[in-house]
Amino acid sequence: MTDDVSRNERIKEASDYLRGTLEQGLREEITGAIVEDDQQLVKFHGMYLQDDRDLRHERTRKKMEKAFAFMLRVRIPGGVLTSAQWLALDAVARDYAGATMRLTTRQTVQLHGIIKSNLKATIRQIDAALLDSIAACGDVNRNVMCNANPEQSQAHAAAYDLARAISGHLMPRTPAYREIWLDGERIAGGEQEVAEPIYGKTYLPRKFKTVVAVPPSNDVDVFAHDLGFIAVLDDRDDVAGWNVTVGGGMGMTHGEPDTYPRTADPVGYCATGDAVKVAEAVVTVQRDWGDRANRKHARLKYTIEDRGLAAFRAEVEKRAGVTLAPVRPFKFTTTGDRYGWSEASDGCAHLTLFVQNGRLRDDAHARQLSALRTIAGIHDGGFRITPNQNLIVANVPTGKQPEIERLAREAQLLAPWSGLRRNAMACVALPTCGLALAESERYLPDLVAALEDRLAAHGLSADDIVIRMTGCPNGCARPYLAEIGLVGKGPGRYNLYLGAAFDGSRLNKLYAEDIAHEAIVAALDSMFAAYSAERRPGERFGDFTIRAGFVAATTNGADFHANAGAPRAASACA
Ligand code: HEM
Ligand code: SF4
Repeated sequence: MTDDVSRNERIKEASDYLRGTLEQGLREEITGAIVEDDQQLVKFHGMYLQDDRDLRHERTRKKMEKAFAFMLRVRIPGGVLTSAQWLALDAVARDYAGATMRLTTRQTVQLHGIIKSNLKATIRQIDAALLDSIAACGDVNRNVMCNANPEQSQAHAAAYDLARAISGHLMPRTPAYREIWLDGERIAGGEQEVAEPIYGKTYLPRKFKTVVAVPPSNDVDVFAHDLGFIAVLDDRDDVAGWNVTVGGGMGMTHGEPDTYPRTADPVGYCATGDAVKVAEAVVTVQRDWGDRANRKHARLKYTIEDRGLAAFRAEVEKRAGVTLAPVRPFKFTTTGDRYGWSEASDGCAHLTLFVQNGRLRDDAHARQLSALRTIAGIHDGGFRITPNQNLIVANVPTGKQPEIERLAREAQLLAPWSGLRRNAMACVALPTCGLALAESERYLPDLVAALEDRLAAHGLSADDIVIRMTGCPNGCARPYLAEIGLVGKGPGRYNLYLGAAFDGSRLNKLYAEDIAHEAIVAALDSMFAAYSAERRPGERFGDFTIRAGFVAATTNGADFHANAGAPRAASACA
């Protein structure tokens, strides 16, 4: 390995296929943490070392170690869980993770606050439910998402099949996970190509995210991801094949214009039988062409910007042995979830619940974990986690609909009336995320309440408007694809972005920098007033903010930072 690679590359290479010194570190009782190199490796096993940032100050004052604990992310392709698996995760959450569960924007479950000495027991319980956390984080292909409602039609079933096939094919092959967490036998390492035929010793330069979409729903936010497959349907609504997209990604760093979010490019069309081959080729080209010196420039989106889409496509075609056909027409209408009951083609029904910011717990307000446990106990049709941090109770026979709806209503899990709240997402941020610069999950509900008040004043309460917030520019809740995007800048302060497309196809643009609650509400209030008075029939809020001159349209990542600011002052149209 040459000198010009990042520290993470050395850690991966020296790790003996993700083992590092994790086993010893787990036995080390003197600290709740693990050593720095292992902190990088443990991500590949689906975990982050974190500390409770609410407690930092007090513990420092008392000269105590930080309140270390682990976040564990489960790998759930397509977000599909059986009822038994739901019950297993619920039990783990209550036993080891502070009796709360977080549904994520990438269709998985995160459990927070697991102390080191409980990690193995946690993973054993998850394993017993036929789930795992391998490759849920780290420089590998992560949880593969798919349109949330697989039973809705044959197309959704095909999308889920593809998501599972890609997930299985791109899984790391190292036995390290079993050895470390499940006391598996150490298998003598053979040739490195045999150990990791796709990834090799150093895995990918950076994280890699894959999704499968079924138009007209873009719930997975296909343009936000490294690799996407968009179903193309035939006359009978069966999948004829797949448009392939490459090079989407959200993360950037404040003040570093070389880093930017980017929407993926459609690159061609392939048959179902070729899709896994194409996925593997995209991964291996990124493995070999991606930047291993600078992690901030290592995602596929930068590889494609640097090398050009045509060169990238040619290399993928060569490696896959597949010629991609021209992209077929496709049309998305929304990134949101369809709340409430929907009938499936097989006669069962699905109930899409509203889970605010994906957070489930029992508190004085509502007993949501308990209600879902009851539902899982009386219902064996399973659950689907949606890409919008919501939950679907799937495959409900007609006879059980009233009872399940009653339980959901009592737990306040039915969708609210407000069009803004129905389309709101926040990342976790404080107190667990070490990268958060500002609150997100704990603040967005209050901000939405203040904005709901202003929307009501302008007669816009029921309008679907997408709002997303993150505590830092990494963009875990995909804020750059929201009509209203808020990104943490410092405590209580946010950058406000506007002008993304409702269907998830266009990024937004910076409107105002480093502003606090009152300024956010005031700016949006005058825009809501203008929207209410000036909008054209059917015009979405994001499109309106561009036409009305509040922000310039972003064409793609490379011009995300260009023409930022407010060409038309919000107050001018109040
Ligand atoms: C590029 C830099 C990024 C870094 C360093 C990063 C790091 C993290 C960390 C540390 C957490 C744990 C927070 C907690 O649970 O306490 C997290 C959560 C999460 N991240 Fe990221 N992230 C990045 C970008 C992204 C992007 C672009 C996406 C999605 C497109 C994403 C998806 C998620 C999801 C789904 C969660 C779970 C919580 C949620 O749903 O909000 N991350 N990330
Ligand atoms: S966006 Fe930033 S603050 Fe929010 S979870 Fe991701 S890394 Fe943490």
